[in-house]
Amino acid sequence: MSYLKYKMTKRPAILLSILYCLLSIVQINAQTNQEQHRPQVHFTPPAKWMNDPNGMVYYKGEYHFFYQYYPDSTIWGPMHWGHAVSKDLVHWEHLPIALYPDSLGLIFSGSAVIDVNNSSGFGKKGGESPMVAVFTSHSMAKEKANKIDIECQSLAYSLDKGRTWTKYANNPVIKNRGDRDFRDPKVSWNEKIKRWVVVIAVGNHVEFYNSKNLKDWEFGGKFGANAGAHGGVWECPDLFSMYSKEEQKTKWILIVNINPGAPNTGSGTQYFIGDFDGKNFINDNSPDKTLWFDYGKDNYAGVTFSNAPDNRRILIGWMSNWQYATTVPTVAWRSATTIPRILSLHKTSDGLHIYQNPVSELKLLRNGSNEIQPIILKDFKTIEITTAINEFDLSFDLEKTNAKSFGIELSNLKNEKVEIGYDVATKQFYADRSGSGQTNFSKDFAGKFYAPRSTKSNILKMHIVVDVASAELFADDGSVTMTTIFFPNEDFKTTKLFSKNGETKVLQGEVWKLKSIFGF
Ligand code: FRU
Repeated sequence: MSYLKYKMTKRPAILLSILYCLLSIVQINAQTNQEQHRPQVHFTPPAKWMNDPNGMVYYKGEYHFFYQYYPDSTIWGPMHWGHAVSKDLVHWEHLPIALYPDSLGLIFSGSAVIDVNNSSGFGKKGGESPMVAVFTSHSMAKEKANKIDIECQSLAYSLDKGRTWTKYANNPVIKNRGDRDFRDPKVSWNEKIKRWVVVIAVGNHVEFYNSKNLKDWEFGGKFGANAGAHGGVWECPDLFSMYSKEEQKTKWILIVNINPGAPNTGSGTQYFIGDFDGKNFINDNSPDKTLWFDYGKDNYAGVTFSNAPDNRRILIGWMSNWQYATTVPTVAWRSATTIPRILSLHKTSDGLHIYQNPVSELKLLRNGSNEIQPIILKDFKTIEITTAINEFDLSFDLEKTNAKSFGIELSNLKNEKVEIGYDVATKQFYADRSGSGQTNFSKDFAGKFYAPRSTKSNILKMHIVVDVASAELFADDGSVTMTTIFFPNEDFKTTKLFSKNGETKVLQGEVWKLKSIFGF
């Protein structure tokens, strides 16, 4: 997106007071959590604008989730870090805003770590370990003056489990080296070189820096100008190691978000697999190969938790796309996150790939289930769900078919619908939201989007998490994911399993009703 678009306009006082009244009504409405299109099993800000997940870190029983937040509008504006915590990754407690814009600028995306050994010296004897946030300071003043060095990296720390924050007095800690786009630092501890490592997105590549104390940083190396997908600016990188059980070795994963430049246009996420020595990343694949993370249009800026227990690698993405994020038809708030996802590394015929699956904690919301009995599907069959529901978790396995396509259809009485299916001839999963209700807020929203199947087994598995305004497909054990949002005029209360132009054999399946995280 272009931050040049952000403008301060002065409005006459009368208009402002009318606006204030309207906003107050919206604010009251926001507290109901029952507004139209409000997700019931996904994280959303209580009100106003949200974009990227930031500073995700686990500490003493709490998952901290910060996010790009503009508390004064439902459209992107001066960025703060909103804050919420969760004990189980599904129920969230909203906390006061953690970071406010300051003299260095807006608080753009970044990460947080627990400085267990107090390498930064921010900690106090006998106190909590410092929680240190590393973020981009983005100067609007410099941007307006057409300067290049508008972004640099800064620190803030908390000594009370993220409840209150102090900005480091000597910010910035990494100055701009002459790049207009220089942002979204993701920090981690590297045991091999016994240093902190930060990866930063710099236009068409990423750069790595090293530090002993989080305050003084040395340039290490760069990667990517000639690898993977380009076309848009690189943003929100992540870097971590993962163990491949099948290959019995540890590999390094570099996640890079790109906008625009996604498989289905707009904002998307790619990843690289390789080795990392603390300074340089060596790509295992050829530079012209792109590994897409999610083929839906609505999973962007995803990064993983630092310090998560049991070595789990948990990612949360922003469930939107810069093509239409500011115009989606929600009134009180804008945007939701994806369901937190567990990442794992698997061998495929195409080399190693990342698989994604919902965190097991999602099962905490399961509330009654229906088994789907084996059946040969011809044309449309309805899944028997006892009560009309909006939020559910559905899994089913299908066997060879002579149909043209099969999958599920979500629909309402207004004849609006979304299809999540598989196209047999082209071996692609798809999400079709062409007739999903409100779509004309952006020319890039309606449409049918595709994801190539990456396994060859005769049995095809579909696992779909459906909420009021989204469907996340985790196909074939999580080897292909497609995240799709939608805005029907009336909730989709009917789900049908279908097979078009032929027969499909459903082997087994189950649908679990999900409880709202708001307790409805
Ligand atoms: C990605 C992004 C980041 C930036 C933030 C600003 O969506 O553009 O690169 O830090 O949003 O809100």
